[in-house]
Amino acid sequence: MFKIINKRESQIFDCDPNELYQYRVYIGEHEVETSTRASYWYVDGDRVVATTGNGDKLKTSAMCVEIFGYTPETRSSTFNKGTDLPYINGCSTKQLIHASRPGDPTFQYLMIPAGTSEQEHHIHATPRVVYVAKGQGRSIVGTPGKKVEYVLNEGDVILLGKMIPHHFETKEQSLIVLPVHVFSTSGHQEFDHPMFNGTHRI
Ligand SMILES: [Fe+2]
Repeated sequence: MFKIINKRESQIFDCDPNELYQYRVYIGEHEVETSTRASYWYVDGDRVVATTGNGDKLKTSAMCVEIFGYTPETRSSTFNKGTDLPYINGCSTKQLIHASRPGDPTFQYLMIPAGTSEQEHHIHATPRVVYVAKGQGRSIVGTPGKKVEYVLNEGDVILLGKMIPHHFETKEQSLIVLPVHVFSTSGHQEFDHPMFNGTHRI
């Protein structure tokens, strides 16, 4: 499964019932009825927030990922001070909300400079929901003999299912994306972090 939906469209996406980790994605403006048995990972202006529901309504305007069965303390982070972890091909990252334990969800930040490729073509073993925060780029999706290109613009939400071959590329503009890893592989060091781990080149 691979979909791109801009936040101008108000949509709700439910993951497949067979997914190992269950989640729902709210794209665009919503009043989300929160549950005390789920957490909400959302973009709010120049911040990202992860919070457990309290039964009240939560207003979201861009992207909100509801992760069922995971109920952490509230954490948040701005994302306007650049990156601090190396990736590859000139790309770099930051852990906006890191995984507290191996496997926990995480909110990441990925900076792809102009004129590069984020990675070789690769898959992830678990789903990711990605907010396009700034810039423009392309996503190349599919198997080596059957690839499709998608343009990425600010405000797009990328629904990336597990095991979908893909990578991002940029031309004239750089691209900043904010991926939620519904399940993460952990790591807190320069060459041991969730953008490296869980990314399998094909
Ligand atoms: Fe990826």
